[in-house]
Amino acid sequence: MINEGLLTAAYIIASILFILSLSGLSHPETARRGNIYGMIGMFIAIFAIIFGEVSQYEVLIVAMVIGAIIGITVAARVEMTGMPQLVAMLHSFVGLAAVLVGFASYLDPSSHFEGTEKIIHEVEIYLGVLIGAVTFTGSVIAFGKLQGIVGSRPLLLPLRHFFNLGLALACIWFGVEFINAESVSAGMIPLGIMTVLALIFGIHMVMAIGGADMPVVVSMLNSYSGWAAAAIGFMLGNDLLIITGALVGSSGAILSYIMCRAMNRNFLSVIAGGFGTTAGSVSVGDDDEGKEVVSTTAEETAQLFQDAKSVIIVPGYGMAVAQAQHPISEVTKKLRAKGITVRFGIHPVAGRLPGHMNVLLAEARVPYDIVLEMDEINDDFPDTDVVLVIGANDTVNPAAQDDPNSPIAGMPVLEVWKAKTVIVMKRSMASGYAGVGNPLFFKENTRMLFGDAKASVDAILTNIAG
Ligand code: TAP
Repeated sequence: MINEGLLTAAYIIASILFILSLSGLSHPETARRGNIYGMIGMFIAIFAIIFGEVSQYEVLIVAMVIGAIIGITVAARVEMTGMPQLVAMLHSFVGLAAVLVGFASYLDPSSHFEGTEKIIHEVEIYLGVLIGAVTFTGSVIAFGKLQGIVGSRPLLLPLRHFFNLGLALACIWFGVEFINAESVSAGMIPLGIMTVLALIFGIHMVMAIGGADMPVVVSMLNSYSGWAAAAIGFMLGNDLLIITGALVGSSGAILSYIMCRAMNRNFLSVIAGGFGTTAGSVSVGDDDEGKEVVSTTAEETAQLFQDAKSVIIVPGYGMAVAQAQHPISEVTKKLRAKGITVRFGIHPVAGRLPGHMNVLLAEARVPYDIVLEMDEINDDFPDTDVVLVIGANDTVNPAAQDDPNSPIAGMPVLEVWKAKTVIVMKRSMASGYAGVGNPLFFKENTRMLFGDAKASVDAILTNIAG
């Protein structure tokens, strides 16, 4: 066992490393370093806890070995497109851990709290289990929605706000019962009932949120998982867990705010649900029914590129599915070698994870200085000769601006249609994640390049001379 002083020093060092990790992760250029800080911090934290707080190693070692095997196997197998689901699943584990630790802490026969300390401990347990249970089922449903097992259409029960209010009031009432319980066995009843209510609330909350709001849900559950971890820290009296949980909780909350702003949505209306309808369906706006789209070929696209002075590439979820980032990086290199200006325009909610497109482009070694955020590039489309949309759909949908009745009305989008020519790469006429028809496909200056994005980009690459 290491002594108290060394343990505290290890906790402080780990906390500093976690803060450095978060600041590193804020930019692609420093993200790798940020990750390394985080890994070292976690390594120190785990060893400090093992050698400073644990006295029985048998169960711990078995659990760690099983956990490590599962973790390594899943991480090695997961595809980049499966990352959002994996993240949602990991959030659910934190939630479940908070629930289990809460019950274990309440039932622990060796804990003897009296008076105010007892009340504080029980409030910690109650809140920890509450946040944990909501995080657990909310994340499981988010996993289902991202995986496509659960439809992304919002479940809008009649009187759903009253239902939520009723659940919240019942949780408060059972909380008072729990604190006033005479014995542990009497306290288990309100604690157990609240757990069931919180599990139902988690399911209902995420079921009511439509496809288009999923970015906020992912970051919101990220934040909840942090608060659940902080609650575990309070229950176990572990300062490092409290700090780490608070860092994750607050950074997730900031990310939710950024996502809301990027989508021009307010947080409360996201939680109230109902934004975005069916996913993956072939849906066309009323005005576009019966209209024809104009198709093009890889040869024509390659020629357009070579005749252009400026090109903007707008990637979306389809680029991640097709893994088209590597050939598009090659296309970029070839065009830039010919003196053509090539830049990338990234929508904040493109793909299925915050920063999804930036990660893929960094992996394919696209220079960071030509990868621009929506706000930085949106005014440049009118002066652009060719825009190539690779598997993006909702994030380039003009209906967000033109159709006040569209489910995504008001969401800022990349104004690709203002360029001279727009090439849209996708496999079919299916809608994007929000399930909304896209009038972009029917615009006069739009050409559709149907097919898998990687195969299409490969074909363009071979048709570009040089
Ligand atoms: P989406 O609107 O989801 O559209 C992706 C498009 O890619 C689809 O229309 C699909 O059309 C096409 N596609 C799929 N596989 C392809 C392939 N192999 N080759 C070529 N095309 C392919 O994409 P987006 O513009 O990136 O928008 C993201 C959406 O996801 C938004 O609604 C956002 O709110 C939501 N969302 C985002 C996040 C985060 S945090 N970023 C999290 C959850 C949800 P075909 O099927 O016709 O090919």
